[in-house]
Amino acid sequence: MAADWNLDAILQAAWEALQHGCERASHPFHTPVLATVGDDGAQARTVVLRSVDGVRRMLSCHTDLRSPKVAELRGAPRASWLFYDRASCVQLRCTGTAGLHHDDPVALERWQAMSPRSRACYGQALAPGAVSDDPGVGPGSRDGYENFVVIACTLDRIDWLLLREQGHVRALFSWQARKWQGDWIAP
Ligand SMILES: Cc1cc2nc3c(=O)[nH]c(=O)nc-3n(C[C@H](O)[C@H](O)[C@H](O)COP(=O)(O)O)c2cc1C
Repeated sequence: MAADWNLDAILQAAWEALQHGCERASHPFHTPVLATVGDDGAQARTVVLRSVDGVRRMLSCHTDLRSPKVAELRGAPRASWLFYDRASCVQLRCTGTAGLHHDDPVALERWQAMSPRSRACYGQALAPGAVSDDPGVGPGSRDGYENFVVIACTLDRIDWLLLREQGHVRALFSWQARKWQGDWIAP
């Protein structure tokens, strides 16, 4: 491994890229894939990255209380977030334990910061995934706060992969003894 590769710098750059992804809708990290474990095995879906906190090792997204992913996380709180930036050729696989905020101070603060348009998604009468006669079921007129959930995930593993023509580079960061332990691993 070349001397100028630095695990600490890679970890810091990874958190910065996540922060950019959260702040900019055009950034490829804005819409990660969130994977959970359901009765039928792995379940993956796109979500919007809503917050990033490197100090607390936390990523969050918003969802509907009635969506299957909430029940899945209640049954098995481990979650994995998958990010890929085609421009920088960096993939991040972030794994951790998810907590659910519903009708609590965290949920209320997020709800109050949301636009009416975003809030409307949570007011639809039908639960996400419910069978409907109407393909265009749109946002409902109800308030929706009762259905609003923040999924807040505390990471304990970050798998960083850089694709390069000269040879791929990969590092694994694990949260151990209250700090990130970084290791080079085979790509
Ligand atoms: C670009 C994009 C962003 C999405 N963002 C979210 C989101 O932030 N939260 C969410 O619950 N679903 C989001 N969805 C919908 C999910 O991918 C999924 O279809 C829905 O949440 C149902 O998932 P579930 O049945 O696994 O619970 C998004 C879909 C797309 C295509």
